[in-house]
Amino acid sequence: LAKPLGKGGLRGRPFCVTIPEVSLTRGAQAPLTTKDTTMAINAPEGTRDLLPDEALFWNQFKQTAAEVFGAYGYLPIETPIMEQTELFVRGIGEATDVVSKEMFTAISGENLRRWVEEGKAPKAKSRLSLRPEGTAGVVRAVVQHDLVPQGAAPAKLMYAGPMFRAERPQKGRQRQFNQVGVECLGAEEPTIDAEAIIMLMRFYEAIGLDTSKLTLLINSMGCETCRPAYRDAVAQFLIDHEADLCEECRTRAHTNPLRAFDCKQEACVQVMKDAPLITDALCEECKTHYAQVKAYLDDAGISYVDDPTLVRGLDYYTRTVFEVQVKEGMGAQNAIGGGGRYDKLMEEIGGQPMPGFGFALGFERCILALEAQGFTFPESRTIECFVACVDASVKPQAFMLLQHLRDAGIASDMDHLGKSLKAQFKSAGKQQASYVLVVGPDELAQNALTCRDMDAHEETTLDLAKFTEALQNAALTEEPTTLGDIITSLP
Ligand code: HAM
Repeated sequence: LAKPLGKGGLRGRPFCVTIPEVSLTRGAQAPLTTKDTTMAINAPEGTRDLLPDEALFWNQFKQTAAEVFGAYGYLPIETPIMEQTELFVRGIGEATDVVSKEMFTAISGENLRRWVEEGKAPKAKSRLSLRPEGTAGVVRAVVQHDLVPQGAAPAKLMYAGPMFRAERPQKGRQRQFNQVGVECLGAEEPTIDAEAIIMLMRFYEAIGLDTSKLTLLINSMGCETCRPAYRDAVAQFLIDHEADLCEECRTRAHTNPLRAFDCKQEACVQVMKDAPLITDALCEECKTHYAQVKAYLDDAGISYVDDPTLVRGLDYYTRTVFEVQVKEGMGAQNAIGGGGRYDKLMEEIGGQPMPGFGFALGFERCILALEAQGFTFPESRTIECFVACVDASVKPQAFMLLQHLRDAGIASDMDHLGKSLKAQFKSAGKQQASYVLVVGPDELAQNALTCRDMDAHEETTLDLAKFTEALQNAALTEEPTTLGDIITSLP
């Protein structure tokens, strides 16, 4: 069942989606599940669970980004994961692969029902897409909330979160992936371009990547003065070499000629070696801007490769573009970050003219790059203290002690499965607890507790009342404490 999505679709093109054969009844849940309930349900293709070690690393990664980018004046922003489809069509460009092939577009269940049952196609506003990238949403938010009024300092914004692209999944290429990105709106000076690139390289260092094993490619894409003529020259070049090009590049000649530089087909790669280069077509202003960006990078000791064929896959770029690639061990998906200047995007989506610059980096690809450099995830010490019970009769007292420990900020746990004391010590070891507190009926009768220091292999007896009081006092202070400090402070 295929229906055109409203008159005119996107920018006058009929927009077709295929609706799976489901019966939709008013007010009832559509039977969207398969009948075979024994079949295991896995994560969707191209998505990936971040299990605890990776999820902890993702938190650290975002924290490091906040610290590094914060030093350059960037502040956090959170925009919706869904935006109106039109934002991406206008902002990223209808002819880009990201928009024309890779967007996940959705309409609400109610709109879908009305469309199927009543033939009422959803209005443009109801067509929502999962964000394939973060720039368009941030720029939309800047326009909507007037974050850079006339004469104000540039807005420096950073974000982190999932992006969605319906690409063919492979190593380093997912359909849902996490990005950290920054956008600076309201300044066209080359210092902004240079400081953002320096900042990104500092970030890679901060997460432990050896930056000598990365290549920073940069280029200038020109501006509205010089790019149109260059674009036309490349289009003409493609038309002249049509016979030697793949089908997609033949189409690109008429839709998005510069993307032919990215084609991986050997025949196209050979043809594009003789294509006109943007370097020879830049206007004086763009040449000066680009030279200044590079001079600032030189001064900061950042090495880069000037690559006049770097065009990037999103249509909004003007002037500086850049990409960071891993030299070895990553396969085809070796770009761990990229971005550039977009001085026309603000107007494209309905705002006042305002220059912008930004970049985004892929979290999962950074993990692959770190692994290629020999990184292994640190084993996370999950708890500081394990409370062990000699037998089940003392469980209530052990449970209360556990609460006092946690209230004092000591990460602690106990056995919930009724395991033997030996097995409880094994669990404590697995969770890398520094201390095991043993609660037993004999010790409780004497208001005492055995404390085993797992690292020093030493055992001491604690006065339960005094220990509990010390924990309660620790819970009242703002200062972080360790169990070791509390134990040594006991009279
Ligand atoms: P992008 O180059 O499309 O730029 O994506 C930035 C980074 O996201 C890539 O370098 C890569 O590390 C990661 N990435 C992209 N697609 C995938 C995928 N399918 N699977 C895994 N990782 C992926 C942008 O998104 C622009 N918004 C950057 C920007 C910000 N330009 C200006 N401001």
